[in-house]
Amino acid sequence: MRYELIEIQKRKKGVTWIIIDNPPVNAIGEQLMKELEAAVDDLAEDHSVRVIVVTSNHPKIFLAGADLKGMIYDTGEMENNEDPIAVQSGKMQACFHKFYKVSKPVIAAINGHALGGGCELALACDFRMMSKGTIGLTETSLGIIPGAGGTQRMTHLIGRAKAMELIFTAKRLTPKEAHQIGLITQVAEDLEKDTTEFAEQLAEGAIHAMGLAKQAINGAEMPIEEGLKIEAKAFSHTFKTEEPGIGLMAFFQKEKAQFYSEG
Ligand code: COA
Repeated sequence: MRYELIEIQKRKKGVTWIIIDNPPVNAIGEQLMKELEAAVDDLAEDHSVRVIVVTSNHPKIFLAGADLKGMIYDTGEMENNEDPIAVQSGKMQACFHKFYKVSKPVIAAINGHALGGGCELALACDFRMMSKGTIGLTETSLGIIPGAGGTQRMTHLIGRAKAMELIFTAKRLTPKEAHQIGLITQVAEDLEKDTTEFAEQLAEGAIHAMGLAKQAINGAEMPIEEGLKIEAKAFSHTFKTEEPGIGLMAFFQKEKAQFYSEG
């Protein structure tokens, strides 16, 4: 797919950046969703890609959320059996779910306001590093609710009462406030540098084991019996990769395991 609203940059050690560029405010519409989905699919298949970072090139906005201009619905549309609004919500959920499901670490490098759907995309990532702007599920201030996974992911991440407080009040948190409640993983002084350092640290590790651990950790959102089954399957799967050979051999030779090599 030819990308118009995102740029893919492959950097050192297999760290690959998806940079969103949809002026004026990086609102999320159909085209951006299609491109993001295609990008995650491509990067998932590409063995040279070890860690994915998603960010934007706007000076102060990560993503301003769903495209509100496309959201004034004609109620006449709802008279047939289809529910176009639920369909739209499902599409955005499916797009962000790709980031959650992909078997590689995904970091949101939040370079500015991450509101509504912008916050929901960040929530679907494994890590959130943030330097400036605000983050929040602002939808109830517009008379709607988060419809791209936010009610579920925010609750899993920070607990029911805090999620309710933030969603009901539509509060926009600074990076420091968001960090205090565990919504973001790190307040970054220098976002690009700090994200690169963390991403490269991950990229040097056992990346297949991380992907399988991610599957198992995501299983923790199911009843524990299901989660344990997923863990056992993922554990077994690690032995289908070359990584246990590298890791165990290095351990017995009292060396540091080299999971990544240049070229
Ligand atoms: N969808 C569509 N258009 C949007 C938008 C969105 N999510 N967010 C902002 N815009 C538009 C504004 O209406 C404005 O359009 P105009 O120039 O025709 O008046 C333009 O983008 C610039 O926005 P503005 O608010 O003037 O920019 P800002 O730099 O002062 O603030 C934001 C940027 C992102 C902080 C602010 O626009 C904002 O709070 N947006 C709404 C975020 C939100 O609640 N999203 C939830 C969506 S579910």
